[in-house]
Amino acid sequence: MRDDYRSSRRALDATDLARVAVMAATIAVLGLPGSFNVFGAVPITAQSLGVMLAGAILGPRLGALSVVVLLALTATGLPLLAGGRGGLGVFVGPSAGYAIGWIAAAFVIGLIVHATPYKPTVWRTALGVVVGGILVDYAFGIPVQSLVTRLPLGETALTSLVFVPGDLVKAVLATLVVVGLVRAYPRAFRRTWQPRKQRDTDDQVQAGR
Ligand code: BTN
Repeated sequence: MRDDYRSSRRALDATDLARVAVMAATIAVLGLPGSFNVFGAVPITAQSLGVMLAGAILGPRLGALSVVVLLALTATGLPLLAGGRGGLGVFVGPSAGYAIGWIAAAFVIGLIVHATPYKPTVWRTALGVVVGGILVDYAFGIPVQSLVTRLPLGETALTSLVFVPGDLVKAVLATLVVVGLVRAYPRAFRRTWQPRKQRDTDDQVQAGR
């Protein structure tokens, strides 16, 4: 079935659901190496790499949905978060904002990476994972962490700087994986991209209007 740029609003089919399930499982698997805490409240985890991949590969809707699936299963008590954590307690803890922010993060990443009908470029992918996977997620995570731990917002933001080097490494890894997949296995994205040459023709047509 054709899944091009313009038909992204169509209903989900079985393949979409399978891809969402595989991506949710991938994020869960990235939690298996465990996590470690530097300042005690919020863990450093490889799962945010999975969130970056989800948005960049599946796009905004399916990427966000894969995170919703992961978090919904976690809420039922399955130990799917790094360190084998699960249950409703996760959603009232200091890392709750980051975890819930993953939904918005995957959505924004997908919007940026798939903003045009052309193949994702290195720079658009890097921009997407940094803006969505870091800025958007921290925008959810830091205020909630501050609220739960009662540490002032500014100090909480300072402690969150500890995540930045690791998250930048994850952003580079996610970009390399995505750009590699675009070249080696474009079907992973389930969409057909317009050739870049077409852009100039489109621009000329548009200018003629
Ligand atoms: C959880 O397991 O409860 C959610 C963990 C959220 C961790 C956040 S995601 C962004 C930042 N980077 C990390 O490695 N850790 C934090």
